[in-house]
Amino acid sequence: PRRLKVALLGCGVVGTEVVRLLRDQADDLAARVGVPLELAGIAVRRPDRVRQGVDPALLTTDAHTLVTRDDVDIVIEVIGGIEPARTLLLEAMKSGKSVITANKALLAEDGATLFAAAREYGTDLYYEASVAGAIPLLRPLRESLVGDHVHRVLGIVNGTTNYILDQMDTHGAGFNEALEEAQALGYAEADPTADVEGFDAAAKAAILAQLAFHTPVSAADVHREGITEVTSADVAGAKEMDSVVKLLAICERVPAEDGGAGRHGRGVSVRVHPAMIPRSHPLASVREAYNAVFVEAESAGSLMFYGAGAGGAPTASAVLGDLVAVARNLVGGASGPVEVTYAELPVLPMGETVTRY
Ligand code: HSE
Repeated sequence: PRRLKVALLGCGVVGTEVVRLLRDQADDLAARVGVPLELAGIAVRRPDRVRQGVDPALLTTDAHTLVTRDDVDIVIEVIGGIEPARTLLLEAMKSGKSVITANKALLAEDGATLFAAAREYGTDLYYEASVAGAIPLLRPLRESLVGDHVHRVLGIVNGTTNYILDQMDTHGAGFNEALEEAQALGYAEADPTADVEGFDAAAKAAILAQLAFHTPVSAADVHREGITEVTSADVAGAKEMDSVVKLLAICERVPAEDGGAGRHGRGVSVRVHPAMIPRSHPLASVREAYNAVFVEAESAGSLMFYGAGAGGAPTASAVLGDLVAVARNLVGGASGPVEVTYAELPVLPMGETVTRY
């Protein structure tokens, strides 16, 4: 191709940053891909809303037409939620477009349908931005570590709740005040219930567990407990014990007690809940809205991924990384990894495992 055309679905906190980076880094991106990337259109619900730095001529309310347009090569979805995002992504793949999504809720609820479509139509499906914003995490699990045997993934994957717990820990801040600050900083979901009740972290845990263990895991499988019951007394009590309260996403293989269930263990445990961890633990030092994820693999040992897990520019950075990857594939006539889940491991209920941090 002489150039590649990109359709953007959604233009909120992340979408406007994607538009800005596409414009400001156009020359660098063209050099990295080998051909220029051009924004073909942006589907939004409310075209009359003023969006800084976004050319109104690119806006459309007709997302369906945009994702099936012949001249569009790549579709980026940053709408969030299940519908219409799912239908639009499926239409795009059916029309042969490479797709990029930041949509953790959709991947966690119905990733299998998207992965099946990518296989059927032979298109790329990349989703680095769906978990832990800017932190390169899914590509390492999907590609760099795919030859290893992952035992456990343990992480702080929700910036809003980490911000709230950190403010409570360091300043004795109240829950609501800290939540409002996180919202003002652009970290929180449109409905912050998804953050504080652990739904956002549970969706991310499902995506991580599926990638790490090659077994189907959906959001409904994840045991979930948010931070709304965590009181300042809990945080102060933890402090006295030289510990800190963190909302953790825990994905681990559960070995059989007699070691008899083979390499995969007798199942996996995937859960999100507040946990008290010693201050000496590296996860305890994750402050403000930062995210961090530990991966423990048989041959690689322990790895830690750390960085900005939320916010417009950090999340847009992950989207742009995916964009360059799929664009390079299109230019080179290649395609990216396709998800295959081959192990049917039971997701075990709570109470079956004890995690030592
Ligand atoms: N609401 C999410 C968070 C945004 O606070 O981490 C990133 O997914």
